[in-house]
Amino acid sequence: MNNLTTGRPPAYRAVITGHGSFAPEKTLTNDELGKMVDTSDEWIATRTGIKVRHITTDNESTAMLAIEAAKRALAEANLDAEELEIIIVATVTPEMVFPSTASFVQRALGAKKAWVFDLAAACSGFVYGLSIVQQFMESSRYKNALVIGAETLSKIVDWTDRTSCILFGDGAGAFVLERSRDGRKGIIYSTMHSDGDRWEALNCQAYGSRHPASRELEDPKKIYMQIKGREVYQQAIRRIVETINSSLKACDLTIDDISMLISHQMNARIIESASKRLELPNEKVFINIGEYGNTSAASVPIAFDECVRTGRIKRGDIVILVVFGAGLTWGANVLEF
Ligand code: UT7
Repeated sequence: MNNLTTGRPPAYRAVITGHGSFAPEKTLTNDELGKMVDTSDEWIATRTGIKVRHITTDNESTAMLAIEAAKRALAEANLDAEELEIIIVATVTPEMVFPSTASFVQRALGAKKAWVFDLAAACSGFVYGLSIVQQFMESSRYKNALVIGAETLSKIVDWTDRTSCILFGDGAGAFVLERSRDGRKGIIYSTMHSDGDRWEALNCQAYGSRHPASRELEDPKKIYMQIKGREVYQQAIRRIVETINSSLKACDLTIDDISMLISHQMNARIIESASKRLELPNEKVFINIGEYGNTSAASVPIAFDECVRTGRIKRGDIVILVVFGAGLTWGANVLEF
């Protein structure tokens, strides 16, 4: 556990100066899924809120999505990629085993000055990445950073398993963060958590060192994502509520001070149930899972980008980003936009 308490305000904060997102053009509707597995639009929409998801073609990869989202965020920030100091790509569907997906992003952007790496914390990766950048900027070590969440989960989904294939989609979202002395503006607080005892609830076991590609698998299904949906569902609600309550307390804020909650988009019912327990009114909770499905590390920056573009988050608003995912991992950032 690593709680980054607010304490005395730091001289510098990490401020979001640009945000962008990108999803592949190809889509897959619930009705189309109903022709692939024994499911229906009615079941999927009622149980998850998902209507359609974006899916990469064989020629599209995680880095390609990440690069597009990054270009949009850099354009918004009006920052030249050559000036970038750090690039973090949060992903569990990387371009290759190595080098990092971030290396391909660096190359495509021409960000020659940056040092770059991938962060594997599943759905929590983007928010974990923001907390790292927050530390770097509060300590005044770096001036700017690019954090990307990018996933092609469609490539590790078992398209014959109706309990998991209906949930996921592909996409990318990115933030440019810059060091600023502008009072409270920026990331105010971050709290991150993990519970490795529950790794089996959500996993994709091949091809790592335990099950290398060079050895035949006893169970060929290990190349696909496996989920224990019910367990994840219950844990997610519990941890989201707990994390938001502790974050508000640490920041000396109440639920009324929050302009918008941007949760990891894993299931609309999970987000609604957590929001109800927190007594957050619907208009302060953003849900766009209907159009994207669960895009893991990409879901929070995609949702944030859409929320700002549609005028639902404005400069000066207090926003909470909250995540939960494989590991298990969970966490939150509180920020003033
Ligand atoms: O970001 C983290 C990753 N996300 C997750 O791990 C997802 C978290 N969990 C969930 O969102 C929900 O648990 C699901 C959406 C996966 C499942 O919803 P549920 O309400 O928990 O359903 P269930 O697993 O309890 O299954 C209820 C029934 C079962 O049939 P029986 O045993 O009652 O006859 C399932 O076989 O629904 C059946 N079912 C389906 N039916 C139609 C499961 N998947 C489907 C499907 N279409 N796609």
